[in-house]
Amino acid sequence: MRVAIIYASGTGNTEEVATAIHSYMGGELYKVGDFPLSQLTHYDAILIGSYTWGNGELPKEMRSVYQAIEELSLKSLVTGVFGTGDSFYPKFCGAVDVLRDMLAVHTNLAVTLKIEQMPQAEDFVKCRMFVDRVLARLEGKKTA
Ligand SMILES: Cc1cc2nc3c(=O)[nH]c(=O)nc-3n(C[C@H](O)[C@H](O)[C@H](O)COP(=O)(O)O)c2cc1C
Repeated sequence: MRVAIIYASGTGNTEEVATAIHSYMGGELYKVGDFPLSQLTHYDAILIGSYTWGNGELPKEMRSVYQAIEELSLKSLVTGVFGTGDSFYPKFCGAVDVLRDMLAVHTNLAVTLKIEQMPQAEDFVKCRMFVDRVLARLEGKKTA
């Protein structure tokens, strides 16, 4: 089972969540700029994490992976999307919504997760549940 966790993080909040998910899930952890896009089709699951920029926007470093998945349209690829944001902004974790809308159309999206800024103890419980949902979807595929 090949799993990649790919994230964008400016100030470390999303990196903290990605690291927690990686510790529960295993697999390969990449900063988005280090992920080899040519390998996208070689994974069973891809988990994408992003902070939100501007007015609910996807950070620009996320655009290439967004476009690559959209173009390849990997219907059997299990995906999950997570992110951190600040509920002070009108579009809380808008980047998660942007990614979710694309992944729901082009992949087998299992789960989404939004976290307020730096993850707290209860958020790590949510990270574990996030991983459980991904594993359940992968398991369902095996038996389907
Ligand atoms: C200029 C700017 C714009 C932002 N816009 C949003 C936004 O629209 N929605 C949101 O939920 N958070 C917004 N944020 C908050 C960040 O997404 C949030 O602090 C996040 O946890 C940062 O994650 P990182 O530490 O991984 O970079 C913005 C932050 C900055 C500095």
